Amino acid sequence: MDLRLSGRVFIVTGASAGIGEATVRLLTAEGAVVVGVARKPRRDEDVAADVADRAAAQLVVDTVLERHGRLDGLVNNVGGLDSRTSFLDVSDDDWLATFDLNFHSVVRFSRAALPALTEHGGSLVHVASEAARFPDTSLVDYAAAKTALLSMSKTLAGEFGPRGVRSNVVSPGPTRTWLWDRPGGFADQLADQFKLPVDEAIEHFVRDVRRLPSGRLGTPQEVAGVIAYLLSPLTSQVTGAEWAIDGGALRQI
Ligand SMILES: NC(=O)c1ccc[n+]([C@@H]2O[C@H](COP(=O)([O-])OP(=O)(O)OC[C@H]3O[C@@H](n4cnc5c(N)ncnc54)[C@H](OP(=O)(O)O)[C@@H]3O)[C@@H](O)[C@H]2O)c1
Repeated sequence: MDLRLSGRVFIVTGASAGIGEATVRLLTAEGAVVVGVARKPRRDEDVAADVADRAAAQLVVDTVLERHGRLDGLVNNVGGLDSRTSFLDVSDDDWLATFDLNFHSVVRFSRAALPALTEHGGSLVHVASEAARFPDTSLVDYAAAKTALLSMSKTLAGEFGPRGVRSNVVSPGPTRTWLWDRPGGFADQLADQFKLPVDEAIEHFVRDVRRLPSGRLGTPQEVAGVIAYLLSPLTSQVTGAEWAIDGGALRQI
């Protein structure tokens, strides 16, 4: 299927690893022009920036407009978390840092991108998480930031739909990226929790704890595929939506 993305210009935040990197690869393979954002970018075309820096979003958008003269879409992918042991241990600074990375960055990038997106019509895709609908002590601040993202995306869809801009959310479930495989990441945490080797701990988590109908963790490429589809004119009637890419984890109607 031709996604009709050739020649279109996109920004992807959190572009040097995981879901962001897979998205850059897929969009590029579809003939799009992609500018990624990360603190340590992988490609020459990308911009080095920390999204927690208040000036970063406008700087990135200005750079893209200078280089390419237009912007057709923004993927607000950047995000991350530190596991918590109790609500009482999460300080004001922790809350602010989590919201800066997972929510305020999305506010700032969307605000910087919208004037250009309204010129030709465009698409915003925000990467939330199943955590937005499964709050838990270990994710208390992260889940709250991702829930806020669902609300903001709906608001953007309502205000900017009449000006040709769509706003949608993808909500990944457990997806095997560096968040899982880094030292001390989710995989190591599960191994500690279940007192099992890493691979067996993941298997136990997938089959017995989460009972994922797909029977496995997701891949970054599977999330990237849905992001690319939501950027495409093939989904021009889809806005204000949330698409789960979670192997069937979300059971409620
Ligand atoms: N993996 C999962 O299981 C899962 C599940 C649900 C939702 N998600 C969501 O999916 C999105 C992507 O997650 P992922 O697992 O692909 O993450 P990842 O593999 O940890 O990659 C994170 C990316 O963000 C960049 N980044 C981190 N902090 C940054 C900052 N302050 N400024 C600029 N760039 C920054 C990193 O590059 P640098 O270090 O070079 O900056 C990297 O490119 C996130 O929003 C996450 O919450 C993931």
